Amino acid sequence: MKKSRILGAGHYVPERIVTNEELSKMMDTNNEWIVERTGIHERRWFTPGVDTLTNMSAKASRMALKRAKVDPQEIDFIVFATITSDYFVPGNGVLLQRELGLTSIGAIDIKNACSGFIYALSVADQFIKTGMYKKILVVGAEIQSSGLDKSNEGRSSAVIFADGAGAVVLGAVENDQPGIMSTHLHSEGTHAEELYCIGPSSSAEVRVSQELIDRGDFFLKMNGNAVFKHAIVRFLEVIQEALDYNGVTKEEVDLLVPHQANLRISQYIQQKMQLPDEKVFNNIMYLGNTTAGTIPIALSEAWEQGRIKENDLICLAAFGSGFTWASALLRW
Ligand code: COA
Repeated sequence: MKKSRILGAGHYVPERIVTNEELSKMMDTNNEWIVERTGIHERRWFTPGVDTLTNMSAKASRMALKRAKVDPQEIDFIVFATITSDYFVPGNGVLLQRELGLTSIGAIDIKNACSGFIYALSVADQFIKTGMYKKILVVGAEIQSSGLDKSNEGRSSAVIFADGAGAVVLGAVENDQPGIMSTHLHSEGTHAEELYCIGPSSSAEVRVSQELIDRGDFFLKMNGNAVFKHAIVRFLEVIQEALDYNGVTKEEVDLLVPHQANLRISQYIQQKMQLPDEKVFNNIMYLGNTTAGTIPIALSEAWEQGRIKENDLICLAAFGSGFTWASALLRW
């Protein structure tokens, strides 16, 4: 059986930088509060009419393809993780396929929020292991800023979420080569309403009504305390699951790349696992939480900065809306 390996990673973030200072002019907040509770100093927001989820993910994909030294026409399939697609229908996978000029290959969307990229990676990994496809583009990208309530009511989410795109090229290699060793996926829908966005809702009489707009049901809503409490437990559990499954210790991990939910969550995991700073990658300080985008963006940046080298043992972990949570262990 074949194995899948990340051949290259790329990313793109919009040019517009939004500082905490700028947010404090839109809502009752301040730099100290945001930095202390989330670790975020600034984030990127898209510019309407310039950035779309499709063109951002195409830029990230082209970078990943170039670094992987793979011609776009070699790609057999696209797995696109997002909860903020350009259209309600179709999904963003097909829009990316069109933008990249890839003729009639299959494309699917994964709607698993912050865990979306690891779910997407796992789906792509199965297709490669069965021999169905040889090269798959796996994307995680979001435009969250257009769905944030920037009034005082929405301030706990509005300061956290941001926009950005990341992509990796996954390729088939022989089983004795470095590559993806395992993925573990979980969900617990009991907590769906702790972090969710109701509209557009197909079970309403009309998907977008004036009532829905008046209620603000098209905004992302989050119970920050509940998310925090569950996240710190599930992150540690699912990382341990990956380590145990592969019979490796936490000391052997070269780099932990956690979903960038909140710097305090990453720091809690780091402290519990007793990992030194150089073994945990964080970029939430200047990019915010880009949901499905955080992990591929982080992989691309970590590789650029020389913090990921060939054959390194990399652990990915995520937690988010659903609740869903997931991990992946791989050799780069
Ligand atoms: N600026 C200033 N004050 C704010 C604020 C903001 N942006 N957002 C909320 N507050 C206020 C609240 O209104 C509340 O005021 P009150 O005491 O007068 O009622 C106070 O700060 C404390 O609110 P609370 O929600 O209890 O704060 P918290 O310490 O839990 O921090 C989060 C809020 C969102 C930062 C925190 O819960 C968190 O980090 N949760 C995890 C979120 C996350 O990781 N999400 C991504 C999931 S993938």
